[in-house]
Amino acid sequence: MAKPKTCLAHLSQTLFLLITISATFAATPTSESVYPTFLHCFKHYTNSSTQLNNIVFSQTNPSFSTVLQNYIRNARFNTTSTSKPLIIVTPLQESHVQGTVICAKSIGIQIKIRSGGHDYEGISYISDEPFIILDLFNIRKVYVDIEKETAMIQAGATLGEVYYRIWEKSKVHGFPAGVCPTVGVGGHISGGGYGNMLRKYGLSVDNVIDAQIVDVKGRLLDRKSMGEDLFWAIKGGGGASFGVVLSYTVKLVSVPEIVTIFRVMKTLEENATDLVVQWQKVAPNTDDRLFMRLLLQPVTSKKVKKSKTVRASVVALFLGGVDEVVSILRNEFPLLGLKKEDCNETSWIGSVIWWNDDDAFNNGAKPETLLDRNLNSASFGKRKSDYVQKAISKHDLESIWKKMIEQGKVGFVFNPYGGKMDEIASDATPFPHRAGNLFKIQYSVNWDDPSEAAAQNFTNQAKNLHSFMTPFVSSNPRSAYINYRDIDIGINHFDKNSFEEGKVYGTIYFNNNFDRLVKIKNAVDPENFFRNEQSIPVHA
Ligand SMILES: Cc1cc2nc3c(=O)[nH]c(=O)nc-3n(C[C@H](O)[C@H](O)[C@H](O)COP(=O)(O)OP(=O)(O)OC[C@H]3O[C@@H](n4cnc5c(N)ncnc54)[C@H](O)[C@@H]3O)c2cc1C
Ligand SMILES: *[C@@H]1O[C@H](CO)[C@@H](O)[C@H](O)[C@H]1NC(C)=O
Ligand SMILES: *[C@@H]1O[C@H](CO)[C@@H](O)[C@H](O)[C@H]1NC(C)=O
Ligand SMILES: *[C@@H]1O[C@H](CO)[C@@H](O)[C@H](O)[C@H]1NC(C)=O
Ligand SMILES: *[C@@H]1O[C@H](CO)[C@@H](O)[C@H](O)[C@H]1NC(C)=O
Ligand SMILES: *[C@@H]1O[C@H](CO)[C@@H](O)[C@H](O)[C@H]1NC(C)=O
Repeated sequence: MAKPKTCLAHLSQTLFLLITISATFAATPTSESVYPTFLHCFKHYTNSSTQLNNIVFSQTNPSFSTVLQNYIRNARFNTTSTSKPLIIVTPLQESHVQGTVICAKSIGIQIKIRSGGHDYEGISYISDEPFIILDLFNIRKVYVDIEKETAMIQAGATLGEVYYRIWEKSKVHGFPAGVCPTVGVGGHISGGGYGNMLRKYGLSVDNVIDAQIVDVKGRLLDRKSMGEDLFWAIKGGGGASFGVVLSYTVKLVSVPEIVTIFRVMKTLEENATDLVVQWQKVAPNTDDRLFMRLLLQPVTSKKVKKSKTVRASVVALFLGGVDEVVSILRNEFPLLGLKKEDCNETSWIGSVIWWNDDDAFNNGAKPETLLDRNLNSASFGKRKSDYVQKAISKHDLESIWKKMIEQGKVGFVFNPYGGKMDEIASDATPFPHRAGNLFKIQYSVNWDDPSEAAAQNFTNQAKNLHSFMTPFVSSNPRSAYINYRDIDIGINHFDKNSFEEGKVYGTIYFNNNFDRLVKIKNAVDPENFFRNEQSIPVHA
């Protein structure tokens, strides 16, 4: 059977959502009506006398569609009925970002900020009101300083570029962030950011020491000039509510010269249920150098013809050698039956390549593959998330498998917490899901059929499974991870853009940190210029 890929780079949806939110306005601004005014303002602000055709794109620019599609990462939002920006701006320097904020504000048009475009609901490049995309893909330098053990990373860099630039300078440094190399820094870090070193080093934001942001007045601020409140907010509160993040400065972390990776798979017939019971005890409590992700997928059984089963795959990174991890797990996790032959020792950068694509790794892929931006390619996908605070019993797991098989296609990714995550206070950053959480669940489904029926089918499956999981996950609030953007959260509860509506998703994503985020939002952007479908609301 095909091995599940841990980095679902190819994602994609549904028109009905968009139809319900595409209100029509009496005097709707058009690209033609807005472009000259915007351009005039932009030229004036940036002192540009030259052509700006490759920086400010109107809908009639021949490159408009390519520029738009390059960073669409979910094909659900790449249809003819998907909302399109009036203008796309692709800044080459800070003043272009400042000019965009000032000029968009002066004509009263919303901006959507896009760095890597991986938002699962596409909200960095679609909108239910007329909008301009500020696309930061050209602002992507990564400066690594090994002596200081820091890196200055611009928002449009991808995680693959960050990992590669660190590796170029040192084989014993790394950075804790996501496992998919095409994810953008701007969205990822402003929403928290986690990957397979989370149990040892926490989230990306736990390692941020400075940042640059363009605020609503067009000012370029660093940590000192923005102040500790705003700096706190953009370390997990989602950047798009507060301004345009231009860069983060981060602390690098140490990684050993040799790390170990492995994948072990078992189906229900191979006692996968007992494996999952034991995984829940071990994965959040074991040595913090060990991260064991658990993937659960409904698959067709090889043993019994045409019957469906669930396959559990334990995919791991250990920051140490193979003998040590085999011995740890023989003792703590006997049901895994891990053998030396299941594992490979490699460099940290090798583990990054393997986690993204183990076939590429086994075929000798070079670190340069991490620089591949893989433009304009996406499948259809839907994600949801949950937090588990109490181990799920064998009996309940069996009922979950049954439901999963009945739904047909949605899988789970269980990401263990514990370790460093337990040591960081829940209000140290806006990301509140710390001690007390055993693991996070991602609900994950991808498909290739562009029909609306398929989109409805698979998004409904995700919703059904999410609803079935209610007794087994966190409650009051039922928490979720902002970087696993889920537009179902808080929808139709109250008026769109009302404070009450914002409080619903805000409390789910940020728990008790929501109130502080609202205070900061009121202080830095009282007119709510930086807004989106799930931004921090302004308190009236
Ligand atoms: C294939 C895939 C794998 C993933 N793997 C992981 C993972 O391992 N770990 C993890 O934690 N998450 C993961 N994610 C989720 C990912 O972290 C979020 O989708 C993240 O927000 C993406 O950042 P982006 O810049 O690529 O996205 P974008 O779509 O560009 O932005 C996402 C949000 O952030 C805002 N934003 C973007 N840039 C800026 C900026 N410069 N300033 C202010 N606001 C900004 C956008 O407006 C939008 O609201 C994954 C997503 C995908 C699609
Ligand atoms: C534009 O030129 C003016 C006058 O020389 C200068 O004060 C201003 O800083 C310049 N603006 C930018 C964005 O470079
Ligand atoms: C380890 O490497 C070998 C040789 O490249 C490969 O056949 C095997 O699948 C790898 N193991 C894992 C866990 O990727
Ligand atoms: C599954 O567990 C049963 C009962 O503990 C045992 O008899 C059987 O050998 C196990 N099967 C596999 C494939 O490990
Ligand atoms: C978007 O759709 C166009 C066809 O309309 C296709 O050429 C392109 O590859 C698609 N891109 C993505 C990211 O889905
Ligand atoms: C709906 O999902 C089921 C189960 O995954 C699948 O068999 C069926 O083909 C899907 N239907 C559509 C229209 O996609």
